[in-house]
Amino acid sequence: MDQSWSLRTLSLPVRIGLLGIVLVVWMGHAASLLHMYWHYENRDERAGFTIDDVRAAYHGIDAPAAMKTALEANHPAGLAQPTRDALLAWLKGDKLAENYDNLDLGENSPAELIANNCNSCHARKAAKEKGAGIALEAWEDVRKVAFSRQINPVPIKVLAISTHTHALALAALSGVVIALAMCSTFARSGGRVVPLLITCNGLGLAIDIASWWLARLETPFVFTIVLGGAMYNLSLALLTVLPTVDLLRGKARGG
Ligand code: HEC
Repeated sequence: MDQSWSLRTLSLPVRIGLLGIVLVVWMGHAASLLHMYWHYENRDERAGFTIDDVRAAYHGIDAPAAMKTALEANHPAGLAQPTRDALLAWLKGDKLAENYDNLDLGENSPAELIANNCNSCHARKAAKEKGAGIALEAWEDVRKVAFSRQINPVPIKVLAISTHTHALALAALSGVVIALAMCSTFARSGGRVVPLLITCNGLGLAIDIASWWLARLETPFVFTIVLGGAMYNLSLALLTVLPTVDLLRGKARGG
């Protein structure tokens, strides 16, 4: 192969055209990041983008409230049954915030029941001193352990549509970016970095998309979604840098 040939030796009109394509790829990268954040941020019904958002979307989350689990496990030992039942009924209802200190319930409002039966150990100060871990002094504390979360993963038909568009578009995108990167002076000077980036890119994409489906069955694949996705996106961004730099630098001397 003619070693002196690279993106830098192409004529100006061709370089301008290719630069346009590369810029569109950059805009796509930026839009993907924003979309991912907005689309998944609230999947787990909690603020911020965390692994639980990915888990909620691809595997689903079925986490009973810590307070419900504790009460059902007969904690605290001496609690009167009617009180336990009243608290459980409240936790299983759908008006947790509204009924927490509902005046109509009088002494039977959850706030009162908790104050009288839990806060000897779970007031903020007592919780620290007695090693009870969580505080239950105010709604701010209680709401953290009162809500059960039951979130279904995206319907399988939606997953199929998403796979069909992403798999084909991303594989094609990788093809274009890899081809451009291989025509850059960096690849043509024979370093190890570009081959390694290509390995990460293809492998990352395959792991990512296969895991979308496997995560429905087994939770560990939620982590390989993140791993594959990170491998894919990072390597793709780095591979995009190479043609961008080459096309901007322009004509190589003597090339
Ligand atoms: C005699 C002290 C005492 C009382 C009363 C008490 N707790 Fe606890 N609670 C603890 C201690 C100690 C722990 C931490 C160790 C454990 O999990 O048993 C705890 C843990 C918990 C946890 C956290 C479990 C987890 O997931 O980590 C919840 C929820 C809880 N209590 C709810 C309640 C509620 C609701 C009441 C009142 C109906 C109550 N507790 C009354 C001592 C108490």
